[in-house]
Amino acid sequence: MSPTQPESELISLQRANEELLALNQSLRSAQDQLLQSERLAAIGQLAAGVAHEINNPIGYVFSNFGTLEAYLERLFEMLEAYEQAEPALADNAIADRLAALRERVELDYLKQDIPMLMGESKEGLSRVRKIVQDLKDFSRVDTHQEWVWASLHQGIDSTLNIVANEIKYRADVKREYGDLPDIECLPSELNQVFLNLLVNAAHAIGPQRGLIVVRSGYGGNSGDKVWVEVEDNGSGIAPEHLARIFDPFFTTKPVGRGTGLGLSLAYGIVQKHHGRIDVRSEPGRGSCFRVTLPVRRPGAEGAAS
Ligand SMILES: Nc1ncnc2c1ncn2[C@@H]1O[C@H](COP(=O)(O)OP(=O)(O)OP(=O)(O)O)[C@@H](O)[C@H]1O
Ligand SMILES: [Mg+2]
Repeated sequence: MSPTQPESELISLQRANEELLALNQSLRSAQDQLLQSERLAAIGQLAAGVAHEINNPIGYVFSNFGTLEAYLERLFEMLEAYEQAEPALADNAIADRLAALRERVELDYLKQDIPMLMGESKEGLSRVRKIVQDLKDFSRVDTHQEWVWASLHQGIDSTLNIVANEIKYRADVKREYGDLPDIECLPSELNQVFLNLLVNAAHAIGPQRGLIVVRSGYGGNSGDKVWVEVEDNGSGIAPEHLARIFDPFFTTKPVGRGTGLGLSLAYGIVQKHHGRIDVRSEPGRGSCFRVTLPVRRPGAEGAAS
């Protein structure tokens, strides 16, 4: 730059440059947001599709199962009557054959075991049904999301059911729920937030069994706000990483394991709710993510999101 150039021109060049940088930055973040919402929609659609497909067969298996149980009861009743009538049999040969048959098929054992098997299977079926229901709740990621008053605990519980598999071999989950009012929110999006925090917590746990605590509370210093914490006693986050964990595509996980979008997605969703995410972490001891959300959506008054 020539030294004769007037200072004002330099300043305006500088300003233009800053504006360009800012514009570039906001373009980048818009692109990230797009990528994130695409990812969200894809997961949601997959979950909704699977839930829908499973829902029908589970429905009739469940209903048939109830009928089967009632039929079995009637069969057992009839069997009981036959057994009581046995001593009255005049024909010894037939009586012997019946006794031998009873031994061979282990009738007494069957009478004990069948109701137990039925009970267990029914519980299994109920669990599958619950998971499908959770998937359906979870996946209302359609574009016509509505702000509704919803219970955070309900969302967290159904999310915990969904990630149970990811967690159960690594850590115990402890719930320390406070008394929360319903809040005005986009429940399925908040579920995504909790999902990401919970999966991250599970991934942070090392070879030793860990503990994940889900805590919640209301009010206090924070005024008309609720907060939810997900705390783990896993690896913790290195100080030099702490500033970057909310960046899109920042991951310390091996290729194929993490995309590095989880936390940036969570951040965007919490921002949309006018809330905040805070994190404290000690390397080697664990991390705690706290999501704080206003009870009422600020400045809503019928506005679109
Ligand atoms: N609870 C935690 N304990 C330790 N490190 C964490 C925790 N949560 C997040 N991190 C760190 O922050 C990084 C970014 O997390 P983020 O959820 O955004 O992406 P990711 O988990 O790597 O991939 P994914 O897109 O599958 O979520 C992680 O790779 C990890 O290094
Ligand atoms: Mg993650």
